[in-house]
Amino acid sequence: MAKAEQEELVRMLDELGRVTDEPGRLTRTFLSPAMERANQLVGGWMREAGLAVREDETGNLIGRLEPTERKSQTPDANVQTPDPKTKTLLIGSHLDTVRNAGRFDGALGVLLPIVVLAELRRRGVTLPFAVEVLGFSEEEAVRFTGAYIGSKAYTGRLRAADLKLADARGQTLREVIEAHSGRRFTPPKPAHRRSSVLGYIEVHIEQGPVLENRRLAVGVVSAIASQTRGRLAFRGRAGHAGTTPMNLRRDALAGAAEFILFAESFAGARSPLVATVGTINVPSGAANVIPGETVVSLDVRHPDDAACRRAVGQLIAQARRIARRRRLSFTWQPTMRHRATPCSPPLTAQLDRSVRAVQGESLALVSGAGHDGVVMAEFTPIAMLFVRCRAGLSHHPDEHASPQDLGLALRVLLDFLQRLAVNHSGKGR
Ligand code: GLV
Ligand code: MN
Ligand code: MN
Repeated sequence: MAKAEQEELVRMLDELGRVTDEPGRLTRTFLSPAMERANQLVGGWMREAGLAVREDETGNLIGRLEPTERKSQTPDANVQTPDPKTKTLLIGSHLDTVRNAGRFDGALGVLLPIVVLAELRRRGVTLPFAVEVLGFSEEEAVRFTGAYIGSKAYTGRLRAADLKLADARGQTLREVIEAHSGRRFTPPKPAHRRSSVLGYIEVHIEQGPVLENRRLAVGVVSAIASQTRGRLAFRGRAGHAGTTPMNLRRDALAGAAEFILFAESFAGARSPLVATVGTINVPSGAANVIPGETVVSLDVRHPDDAACRRAVGQLIAQARRIARRRRLSFTWQPTMRHRATPCSPPLTAQLDRSVRAVQGESLALVSGAGHDGVVMAEFTPIAMLFVRCRAGLSHHPDEHASPQDLGLALRVLLDFLQRLAVNHSGKGR
């Protein structure tokens, strides 16, 4: 693939990276104004590449390319009726971001396939299967603590319990979706029959340092680590910071702080376990008030399910002990649990062949980060391509993948689609 496509991808990543809810830094959260603008921008690029574009009620952006070009006035989904026998390959990632994010996490996996499909179109190559490029509306769990709203909705796995999740302003997921669409929301059925889907491919920056250490631009993912997230609430008694002697306090924040340091040293001694407290909320906090309540988040990950479960149990037991000793009440509310997710061996082997063809060698990695692939794997076989990122840095504005590495990843996906097309035609549809 020519340098022009590589430069085009970099330009798109830069432009999308400027679409933000917060001036001066990149933040896009579920169904926010910036997410709407991102969908318009990316939807425009999808149309230019010949895809029919639609957005579902949960803000997922979906661009579909039928196997053969159909003659129609406008390339929109509502004027095309997909052939029921058509198989569809899904390729995508998420368009939401963390707060103060980098430009690559999620965006790369949506934009890269658009560039590849545009290139196939320029070459006059048609594929014997349909391709849907997916820009999921929510993966990062920033606005609502349960992640993967987009891929859950797309695969028909959004549950009544998810709709009750509330954001920081107390608006529930249902309310946010209904305010956006202006209609009563019923969780959708899966976007496809399972049997009509060939699989799901996600291209993502590695978000870790392994590829860089091995001096490789890309690698394939063998599995995604097991993950549990939740909220710990410590409750004591608020009081006057000037008049309450230290020995008579029941300080909820001090209890939470003791737990945070425990979690750090606990995980630190049990590699590859990782445990993170990423948010602290002192609801009525003020400089002159002893904190009566503190809620912290906890995120625990391990490549092995049982080890992850065991660690969460030990961490929560210790939190209870800390609370008891400090005369605090304590509650633990899990908000997300995902088992370790193996990628599909046959689909990954095909992706691996393309990596070897383009890069000369390949490398299999376990992903410590969560991905929409976790939810998609319950619906269809998945494979993931990781792209080296500078210093393994991610969830940070300095997140960076080099144009050369992006160029290589473009060639890998192009090669993968062409090989899949040959296999698919060979089997006879
Ligand atoms: C998603 O980026 C996650 O792994 O937290
Ligand atoms: Mn992320
Ligand atoms: Mn991501």
